Amino acid sequence: MSKEKLRIAVQKSGRLNEDSLKILKDAGISIDNGKEQLKASSRNFPLEVLYLRNGDIPQYLRDGVVDVAIIGENVLIEKGQDIIHAEKLGFSKCRVSLAVPKSLKYTDINDLDGKKIATSYPNTVNAFLEKKGISAELHIINGSVEIAPNIGLADAICDIVSSGSTLFKNNLKEVEVMLKSEAVLAISPKISSDRKEILEKLQFRLKSVLNART
Ligand code: PRP
Ligand code: MG
Repeated sequence: MSKEKLRIAVQKSGRLNEDSLKILKDAGISIDNGKEQLKASSRNFPLEVLYLRNGDIPQYLRDGVVDVAIIGENVLIEKGQDIIHAEKLGFSKCRVSLAVPKSLKYTDINDLDGKKIATSYPNTVNAFLEKKGISAELHIINGSVEIAPNIGLADAICDIVSSGSTLFKNNLKEVEVMLKSEAVLAISPKISSDRKEILEKLQFRLKSVLNART
């Protein structure tokens, strides 16, 4: 029997982590709980799981350090346009949106021309603004983006919106939806043919889970 294992990246902590492990479990793949470790193996499927930071995953896929990943489509759009999206996995649905203070009168995107926008998604924002013929100054921050308008750092923000509660708590309103996202299975362009065979088995199982869920 081949010792070859497929390497999958899963978000280390955060919103995708739990549902990612759940879908693997539902696919009949038991993973020894490696919460403390950054690497775990399955007992009953040739799979090795690496727990990684979201933003690092596109580079690992590109380099072929991992063969596949469960990742938010929004992260691939921001940092991994060259990476193959296989199937959508139906969870972690969110939007990547622009938001402004509730008190601001907002008519359309032209209101943001020449303004400051705080975001963790500079490529996505730039592409969107360019398409609209708007130029804005971007402030790149990695978290707690919604606080920026309240502390005078920016006029608007662009971030993930899921329930909308973070916007609400920070007195912001969603004014433009730039894209919709959910968890996807992403595949490294460098995956070997041996591992591709394992991947096909994994995809078959994931598809069965998704069919059963609908
Ligand atoms: C994420 C995202 C938004 C929020 C959206 O932040 O950056 O702020 O969730 O979810 P909601 O619409 O349901 O409120 P997270 O809490 O993961 O923290 P971070 O921004 O510090 O990474
Ligand atoms: Mg946040």
